Amino acid sequence: MPGLDVLVLGAGGREHALAWRLGRDESVARVRIGPGNAGTAACGTNVPDLNPSDPAAVARYAANQRIGLVVVGPEAPLAAGVADALEQASVPVVGPTAAAARLETSKAFAKQLLRRVDVPTADFVTFTDAEAAIDHAHGAARPPVVKADWLAAGKGVVVPSSTQEAIDAIRVLFDGAPRGASVVLEQRLEGREVSVFGLVCGERVVPLAAACDYKRLADGDAGPNTGGMGGYAPVPSFGRREVEAAMADIFEPVAWRMVRDGTPYRGVLYAGLMLTADGPMVLEFNVRFGDPEAQLLMPLLDGDLAQALLGVATNDMALADGAVSVGGGASVGVVVAAAGYPESPVRGDAIGGVDPATPADDGSLLCFHAGTARRGTEYVVAGGRVVTMVGRGRDLPSAREAAYRGVAGVELEGEQHRTDIAQREVTA
Ligand code: AMP
Ligand code: GLY
Repeated sequence: MPGLDVLVLGAGGREHALAWRLGRDESVARVRIGPGNAGTAACGTNVPDLNPSDPAAVARYAANQRIGLVVVGPEAPLAAGVADALEQASVPVVGPTAAAARLETSKAFAKQLLRRVDVPTADFVTFTDAEAAIDHAHGAARPPVVKADWLAAGKGVVVPSSTQEAIDAIRVLFDGAPRGASVVLEQRLEGREVSVFGLVCGERVVPLAAACDYKRLADGDAGPNTGGMGGYAPVPSFGRREVEAAMADIFEPVAWRMVRDGTPYRGVLYAGLMLTADGPMVLEFNVRFGDPEAQLLMPLLDGDLAQALLGVATNDMALADGAVSVGGGASVGVVVAAAGYPESPVRGDAIGGVDPATPADDGSLLCFHAGTARRGTEYVVAGGRVVTMVGRGRDLPSAREAAYRGVAGVELEGEQHRTDIAQREVTA
């Protein structure tokens, strides 16, 4: 069988990790990344002019280049209909249609679906009018969590600590809202968060793994929400058994409902769970791998990832089932962000100590690039989250040590990183 030609869409740390992992698969002949970043060039061929959110352009490129599998990293291309266009062009794609991507792109859609299949989630009310939402916030026993019902690039959720903060958030969101858009107010849940990943094709679900991710900018979960500042896997309190239970209790009913509703799901599904005193509750769905979760999960997967993803893309879940599994050991990822992230990252500064991971690179420290560009022989900052340093080890403490050894070697003026990633899993 000739090797597979794979196209990864996106330009972040997740896509570098996917390209790195796919580049190690026996079944893969060639990896391209569109548009990619300065680091992904070490794992394949960048296609810098490809706009991943232009469905016609992506479908044309993939068909012309005889791409055998497209792996969509971020949600925006899916929301724009890239999977629909690829499906029409008969190119196998991992990622749902725009209609099925509403699981991520519309909080109201996801919440209503969860309610219909009786999967636990926080109580919620949807508003299209700021004043009605503010009245609701005034009447709530605790300040509600405020969520935009549109794709807001990680800035659409506010977890307020006072009613006034909730009201301010409602006003800010409605001010920036697309016409007719709604805002969801939901009950605040308490507990530890875990990200759970499965492969879904129609009604069939194959479990992948769980990871913990840290969304706040600063140590101790202080500061603003970000795209994610680090994470670790495995999660000691959420092992194989818990992942399988999540598939049976959450992923399977959701997949079944999507099929019944005429919008079958195909791709990686990510459930953000809150582990509450009353059991796991769904905070959100994402229709893709997490970032930074992908950076730390990819190095833990044994088997042939491309075959597993090809199975999902071609409705052959027998191929997907058992093609990959989480091996032994642990991994910890720490994001190094630019000064000014998340509001206004400072770009253009030179950065050292960030040799990008290549598929041949299999050591205890892997560097995945996100917001980087090449200037002559050096790397410069081109985005908010600059690199993820991933440490690997036989357990979480040794993986953590490796990751922070990598972070210590990064040379970047004013860089920001958390010092407490996976700290809670290290017993003194
Ligand atoms: P989401 O995009 O819906 O996952 O929200 C982003 C982050 O906000 C989550 O990862 C949680 O940390 C927090 N969050 C969202 N919904 C709630 C909730 N109902 N209760 C407490 N925290 C929440
Ligand atoms: N790590 C959170 C996300 O990818 O949405």
